[in-house]
Amino acid sequence: MIPHLLSAADLDHEDAVLVLDTAAEMATLSDRSVKKLPALRGKTVVNLFFEDSTRTRISFEAAAKRLSADVINFSAKGSSVSKGETLKDTALTLQAMGADAVVIRHGSSGAPHRLAEAGWIDGAVVNAGDGTHEHPTQALLDAFTIRRHLRGGEGDLSGLRVTIVGDVLHSRVARSNVHLLDTLGAKVTVVAPPTLLPVGVEEWPVTVSYSLDDPLPESDAVMMLRVQRERMNAAFFPSAREYSRRYGLDQVRMDMLPEHAIVMHPGPMNRGMEIADGVADHDRSVIVEQVANGVSVRMAVLYLLVGGSRQPEPTEVIV
Ligand code: CP
Repeated sequence: MIPHLLSAADLDHEDAVLVLDTAAEMATLSDRSVKKLPALRGKTVVNLFFEDSTRTRISFEAAAKRLSADVINFSAKGSSVSKGETLKDTALTLQAMGADAVVIRHGSSGAPHRLAEAGWIDGAVVNAGDGTHEHPTQALLDAFTIRRHLRGGEGDLSGLRVTIVGDVLHSRVARSNVHLLDTLGAKVTVVAPPTLLPVGVEEWPVTVSYSLDDPLPESDAVMMLRVQRERMNAAFFPSAREYSRRYGLDQVRMDMLPEHAIVMHPGPMNRGMEIADGVADHDRSVIVEQVANGVSVRMAVLYLLVGGSRQPEPTEVIV
């Protein structure tokens, strides 16, 4: 297993399936009365968040605690970062406190790579979202969710058709998903207005469509992306209503999907814009389940990076 998780592209097929299989073992804990493993007892996991988060921050904290690690939560707001302290000095402070793993979210693409490669931290570095670059654990929890629904929870995603829709340009979720879905054998279509596609998308292992209606009847999973208005400093589409009309998933478009298809969104959602209320809450929407699966997947990542490189034995469960 790799020493850090910085990009979904770091995972080859064997490692990606190992993480998903380990996450499946971790998920069995949620059915037990005591949802804990002793695997990371005596280890320290630092959650270093320079950007806002709800799902990722909480699920990494829950994951580390379920593995019995000591957890330190650092948020840039209210810290010495506001006095001008650098990433290097923040990292050296955490190292002095004996971090075995640092989970970092940062507004700058590449910040987790800097942390891992500069040698400021001895432990494992996990990218929890860097700028518009990558969000590898989101892609892993998405793959885990797709595998559970469409592959009986085993193997890879060979031949499945996944459609990723919306603000691909600003989406670290889309980038990580394209890498991982390709590694796991899925066929990916990205759908967006031309203004919300990155330069060089033609070199990605995807099919590009400007029409959402075209790929829907052939899709096994459709993944709606949040329109990231906070990262936009120009008009990328004429109006929210126009965007929603052309690229929003409403009930009419939902009816175009095959019966078995699932609807996904990484959250947070702009309800009424990229996804209609009724679709977000539909029984074929797996959006809440994605959040729950995030805990199992992040347990697997921490376990494999900090605790060892094998799946846990059932006897390791605390009863
Ligand atoms: N999906 C995701 O990264 O959500 P948060 O920003 O709430 O962590």
